[in-house]
Amino acid sequence: METKILESTTENIRIAAKIIKNGGLVAFPTETVYGLGANALDADAVANVYYAKGRPSDNPMIVHIATEKGFSDLTDLMTEDIKIMMSNFWPGPLTMVVPAKKIVPKRTTGGLDTVAIRMPEEQIAKDLIEFSGLPIAAPSANLSGKPSPTTVEHVIDDMQGRIDCILKGPNCQVGIESTVVDMTGTVPMILRPGIITKEDIEEALGKEILLDPSLLGKPGEDFKPKSPGMKYKHYAPKAEMIVFKGDSERVRVEIAKKKAELEKEGKKVEAIFFNVENPKEAAHDFFRELRDADKRNVDVILSQALDESGVGFSVMNRMLKSCGYNIFEVK
Ligand code: TXA
Ligand code: MG
Repeated sequence: METKILESTTENIRIAAKIIKNGGLVAFPTETVYGLGANALDADAVANVYYAKGRPSDNPMIVHIATEKGFSDLTDLMTEDIKIMMSNFWPGPLTMVVPAKKIVPKRTTGGLDTVAIRMPEEQIAKDLIEFSGLPIAAPSANLSGKPSPTTVEHVIDDMQGRIDCILKGPNCQVGIESTVVDMTGTVPMILRPGIITKEDIEEALGKEILLDPSLLGKPGEDFKPKSPGMKYKHYAPKAEMIVFKGDSERVRVEIAKKKAELEKEGKKVEAIFFNVENPKEAAHDFFRELRDADKRNVDVILSQALDESGVGFSVMNRMLKSCGYNIFEVK
């Protein structure tokens, strides 16, 4: 398939919107990561998204809207909490899970009775949704299992030849995917952490909310720290990756030691350090660092962990999956 790669002029966004209307696939920038979009109400178009990504088809998608009417087109639920979330965080990197109306195909929701909805802030995304007049289902525009794409080059690397169109845009400001919050219970629950943190939401709602317990601990019974844990690998670079946790000075020393050791064995090694004072910057850079290392054909990535509070918690959620829970605790 020939993939049109277009500058995001108004005229070209209209062309892309027509592709969506006709059941085609368009990759587009959002403030978090690039998305791979299709008409959320067209089960066949959504099936093609799974196919293009090489993704298991039980994984539900986020549906992108541009207006509050777009929200009530997809769900009957409207609560005080939802209103507060909308006014504080939309448009922006927040996704709300709510009961789905019948018009949302089961293909889009991965067979669930709920639908995940997000109103993105990036103007190109907003225009694409508005011009198409449709809700747009969009997972991240990467091949399944690979790091999420935060630049248009990442999207071209993964999707050229597999989809109809790529809209060029700026590098993504946030760099990690949206915060996903389940709004169906009496108390909201974070299902995927993002740049909007639990504390941010609690401050807006004026009450405590929940965190999906699976985010806190081990991914399964057979979890063993320092084991490759291939089963849980996701957002993964081609290189082997080890994450070093502990006091940041000692981590630096241990990483340098390990790097020298591996290089002596003839391995190409890259060390990734973050400004631990600025987890937002780490979020912005993280996926790009992994893809850059792969481009340089690095064999092993040694990465410094972040403090698991605030946005650091959200970055660590990705980092631990990227390395397949291959963690080295520095004592
Ligand atoms: O920032 C983002 O959210 C990006 C951009 C493109 O908007 N999209 C994205 O989509 O990250 P994806 O498909 O990579 O991740 C969707 C997440 C998954 O963790 C999925 O399990 C969850 O949202 N999700 C979707 N629908 C759900 C539902 N009905 N109930 C629970 N979780 C759901
Ligand atoms: Mg994804």
